[in-house]
Amino acid sequence: MEKQQLHIDYIVYNDINGLEDADAWLLKEAREVTAHAYAPYSHFQVGAVIRLANGEIVAGTNQENASFPIGLCAERVALASAASVYPNVDIDTIAISYHNLKGDSGHPISPCGMCRQALAEYEMKQEGAIRLVLGGLTGKVYLINRANDLLPLSFSGEELG
Ligand code: THU
Repeated sequence: MEKQQLHIDYIVYNDINGLEDADAWLLKEAREVTAHAYAPYSHFQVGAVIRLANGEIVAGTNQENASFPIGLCAERVALASAASVYPNVDIDTIAISYHNLKGDSGHPISPCGMCRQALAEYEMKQEGAIRLVLGGLTGKVYLINRANDLLPLSFSGEELG
């Protein structure tokens, strides 16, 4: 028997002003694009904006459906768009923000489990880290160095070989 431990490092900034300029710009974009969400059921508008290695920017927002399970998270909309328009360009950073129309939007949210799995897939595909910048409309901001840090012991395509 052996006891193992998992440990992740991430940076917490008091607000957006602690970020380097390019990341602060990306988070502002994510905040603004929350207005494009289609979230008539949850009233929880999420924006995800990707900066690619070639400098291009791709945005996504959550897209809900009266048949609830069909709804898509902002992160996976952004990832699928980036992979479709720029199929062989690495993802450098994804900034994620939200506007909770029914409550507080002043702290970071973190991608759901399904989106973590999707992020891990693209990270494996590009063999390089995808950075995450997480923040609400105001308040603290988290900087996470690589998506896979949010999904330790993940299932990957390597198992299918
Ligand atoms: N949602 C996202 O788009 N991203 C997340 O990281 C968490 C949740 C969406 C799904 C749904 O449309 C709404 O937020 C409430 O769960």
